[in-house]
Amino acid sequence: MIRPQNLKTKIFLDSGDPNETREIIKLLGFLDGQTTNPTLIGKNPEAQKRLAEGKKFTKEEIYDFYRGVVKEISALIPNGSVSIEVYADKSTSTDEMFTQGKEMFSWIPNAHIKYPITTAGLEAAERSIKAGMRVNMTLCFTQEQAAAVYATTRGANKGEVFVSPFVGRLDDKGKNGMDLIKHIVKMYASGDDRVEVLSASVRSMAHVLYAIQLGSDIITAPFKILKAWGEQSLPIPGDDFVYPAKELQAIPYQKIDLLKDWKKFNLAYELTDKGLERFADDWNALIM
Ligand code: E4P
Repeated sequence: MIRPQNLKTKIFLDSGDPNETREIIKLLGFLDGQTTNPTLIGKNPEAQKRLAEGKKFTKEEIYDFYRGVVKEISALIPNGSVSIEVYADKSTSTDEMFTQGKEMFSWIPNAHIKYPITTAGLEAAERSIKAGMRVNMTLCFTQEQAAAVYATTRGANKGEVFVSPFVGRLDDKGKNGMDLIKHIVKMYASGDDRVEVLSASVRSMAHVLYAIQLGSDIITAPFKILKAWGEQSLPIPGDDFVYPAKELQAIPYQKIDLLKDWKKFNLAYELTDKGLERFADDWNALIM
């Protein structure tokens, strides 16, 4: 299969398993990148096997394992991007995040470092950009958080910064997560096109099609969904495509001044805190 000519959105795989990378490349004929996170690394079959044998990792071993996984993925998509997420709980400092990010960025030539959209995460991102690193700002659930990412990373070049709004987790709460994608794309259009919108927490083919229609720069989707998309010969939404939002509650658009000092944006959102906790718990569950 070849990449559809009218497909501008980059397609990433959301997975911590290099075998899935191989299978998707074989099926689609291309893959633009991959995103990983602590939960996905925990789901890696080798990690699962080890846990089933009752053998957890030491702190050093788990970082070695994560490095091995992303190195393998990176070699499969040398021209793509591979997102690697730092460990962060609510007490992790800017310094601690940045130190991890710097180390992880050195693992492979095509890394984007994932930091949470919290004060410490944004400060770590600001430092990372100044140090010439690339970042993917994760656990985005509000337009204000996306505005803060835009404001913190001024001076970065296109391709160096992604923002990851989590569609599925908003849907799970009865809110129309795709509205957030639509609003961030619209808000960023009033500035420059430096920060790329990466639709994450994708759960359905309808999410994929609507994200393409909305002009999301990137979509990261789990293996099962990319496989189904490939098996259906890579459908692209026509002008007549209407996203089935069903009973999901609409999220209203907010008018936001992108030039505001980022420290003035409201970064708080319950799902960001919960997401941070879940990633930290999943990571800690791997360590003895
Ligand atoms: C990828 O960057 C995100 O971490 C991922 O899409 C989250 O997905 P989930 O909400 O299904 O855990």
